[in-house]
Amino acid sequence: MQSVLLCVLPSFSIITNLYYSCIVFIFSWLSPTWLSWNKYSEGMLRNLEKSILKICRIAHRGFYVDIGPVVGHADKIWTISLNTDSPNTPLVLLHGLGAGVALWCLNLDSFAGNRPVYAIDLLGFGRSSRSTFSTDSVEAEKQMVRAIEEWRKEMNLKQFILLGHSMGGFVAASFAISHPGYVKHLILADPWGFPERPENNKEVPLWIRSVTYVLQPFNPLAGIRVAGPFGAWFINTLRPDISKKYSVALKDANLIPQYIYQCNSQNPSGETAFHSMMSGFGWAKNPMVKRIDKLEINVPITLIYGSRSWIDHSAANIIRDKRINSYFKSQVITGAGHHIHADKPEMFNQVVQEACNYTDNRKSNKAIMPS
Ligand SMILES: *[C@@H]1O[C@H](CO)[C@@H](O)[C@H](O)[C@H]1NC(C)=O
Repeated sequence: MQSVLLCVLPSFSIITNLYYSCIVFIFSWLSPTWLSWNKYSEGMLRNLEKSILKICRIAHRGFYVDIGPVVGHADKIWTISLNTDSPNTPLVLLHGLGAGVALWCLNLDSFAGNRPVYAIDLLGFGRSSRSTFSTDSVEAEKQMVRAIEEWRKEMNLKQFILLGHSMGGFVAASFAISHPGYVKHLILADPWGFPERPENNKEVPLWIRSVTYVLQPFNPLAGIRVAGPFGAWFINTLRPDISKKYSVALKDANLIPQYIYQCNSQNPSGETAFHSMMSGFGWAKNPMVKRIDKLEINVPITLIYGSRSWIDHSAANIIRDKRINSYFKSQVITGAGHHIHADKPEMFNQVVQEACNYTDNRKSNKAIMPS
């Protein structure tokens, strides 16, 4: 529970963290009958998503893409698309842990202003299929990537800009390493799973150690499911700032916590994959900095961090050193926490637009034609 809040939201003190960790701990041990209180409803998630996306001026289309037997028997990826008639390079958006397409609501108009935009609920999240992922970290990551590749084939996308937030950044980088020919620009927003876990545990901030300790045996979002009908209230009470981020645009402050609750109250699936890939909440078992040199040199990277985020920014220098012959731009957005796109949408949108415009302008570059 705490971990989704870390992911979905930033800013907290060690004391409140420990306090919440205790609450989560108690909730996690409550009778399993609480689990039957789980009030997930496909219709509710759909309606919440629709209500949130109403704030976008540019019309979107939502549809399921049948990707066949990738992880489950018949996996489907929930997709929304905007401005698909534009001839410019499309932008594909991958959300973070516990999120879904609607959490891009403050960015879609800007992104889709002059290019096609596709946002998906990653396999195992949001409205996409809840298939049973491997418990092996390498295999779970491959399954995530394979689902995106099968989706890309069904969508017949030849080249696109790939933007991933948090866990979505990790998955985006992994996709780009395996399928560089399709990725014209990799944009990483506060990506999770890049730096290596410090060997000396003392270097790990206390709050991470305490949260990791409490959460180790559980799936990251277990608290939300256990909280049952109080899930949305729980999210709102623990981290009221999450609704606040969106409140300027959304009139109903309850929409976001309810949406997050509905995204996470079903059987854990993608979250289990995340659990397999993580080593302590803050780190990946197979950190991306160790592999980023395997990414084709022609794929530009734009890295965007929030100045107040809990994510370790040290990957920026490592990527720069490992990719001296490649385009690499890193930027820190002042005042933004982990959810840069919701904390400072105008600045975030501008940095993403600049990266996208740069990509359009080097369209003639033969070196990055699809393989
Ligand atoms: C990107 O290009 C579009 C179209 O030319 C332009 O309207 C927009 O201002 C540019 N954005 C940035 C941040 O450069």
